[in-house]
Amino acid sequence: MIKPHGADALDARYVSDEAERKALMSEAEFLPSMLLNSAAAANAVMLGAGYFTPLKGFMNLADAMSVATDMQTTSGLFWPVPIVNMTDDVSGLDVNRRIALRDPNIAGNPIMAVMDVASIEEISDDQLDTMTEKVFGTLDESHPGVAVFRHQGRYCVAGDIRVLSLSYFATEFGQTFKTAVEIRDEIAERGWETVVAFQTRNPMHLAHEELCRMALERLNADGLVIHMLLGRLKEGDIPASVRDACIRKMVDVYFPENTVMINGYGFDMLYAGPREALLHAVFRQNMGATHLIVGRDHAGVGKFYGPFDAQAVFDELPEGALDIEIFAADHTAWSKKLNQVVMMSEAKDHDPEDFSVLSGTALREMLAQGIAPPSEIVRPEVAEILMDHYQMEARQSAVGE
Ligand code: ADX
Repeated sequence: MIKPHGADALDARYVSDEAERKALMSEAEFLPSMLLNSAAAANAVMLGAGYFTPLKGFMNLADAMSVATDMQTTSGLFWPVPIVNMTDDVSGLDVNRRIALRDPNIAGNPIMAVMDVASIEEISDDQLDTMTEKVFGTLDESHPGVAVFRHQGRYCVAGDIRVLSLSYFATEFGQTFKTAVEIRDEIAERGWETVVAFQTRNPMHLAHEELCRMALERLNADGLVIHMLLGRLKEGDIPASVRDACIRKMVDVYFPENTVMINGYGFDMLYAGPREALLHAVFRQNMGATHLIVGRDHAGVGKFYGPFDAQAVFDELPEGALDIEIFAADHTAWSKKLNQVVMMSEAKDHDPEDFSVLSGTALREMLAQGIAPPSEIVRPEVAEILMDHYQMEARQSAVGE
């Protein structure tokens, strides 16, 4: 099986031994505590679940800057995105002390981890600009990831953590949320060797579904892990529970049994395009996938990245940076000539009007009005679920007005 990133075994920072966890929790109640922001809490969940192996906690400023500028930590580990805990409030925090980290996403802010504080460093304007520019490719705050990243606080609080709770993910998405350890174990149990991971933050339309099928066939893979983001998204994106229902329905009806695992991970979307694609690859390697599908505008938003920037970035990686490979896909769309989804670049003798494409906005409008979109865009079973969702949203906003 593919090895975890930079390690022989996963390092899940979640304390799985119950007695040890209880003891740490009792200790934590009496420690000074820090309320995390949502991005740092998501980092803690990913560290807890083993996805961020071999990291043991939050990076200090030198590592964060090195990762941002050179895509490696100061000790030379390939890593594409700073894993940081930023705050403005460092009152009560001291270097070399253990503190409790509180969860911003659960009422009452329960303790989710303990951290041995190794450093508390102020981030300068220049450092914040450099990190933002390198990771997101822009300082423009109309970029939703940039807007979040630049307002998390001006201190970087670093140190190793032990995670005591995986936040709301396990309770809210019990069937879907899985740790990297669980997914790796299940892949081993199934005896899959070539494993394709599909990253998504959307309900899957026919173009996504066929993209997965093409990857499975062309790689002669044993199975597919649809691995959906369950954390925070920008306004207007579809809630995880609805996406989960759509994906489950699609797999149930259209994929052969035992070829697909449907799982999710607890992380907030960064919309960082190429850098996020690299992070996606790191944590899919950790969960045991040999390939990650990277299609058009992977993890992108608006017009901030070129449609295939997230593929090109993999060509520039130093030798041996990652073991996982990507399945680089061209834009997939329905061909009216061939009556099937194709990669556009492979469809010879096609003019642009030979493809059925519908903009996201047009699709949302149809669904909200209860009009079923064409079946070459969305499967009818999936369209039902989406129409229910959009119509409920419309009713709720009418009541709210
Ligand atoms: S993402 O932010 O998670 O990347 P999304 O869920 O829309 O967004 O996409 C999931 C994956 O499918 C990404 O690899 C993306 O590049 C790919 N993808 C989505 N739509 C298409 C398409 N029409 N053609 C090719 N690839 C696509």
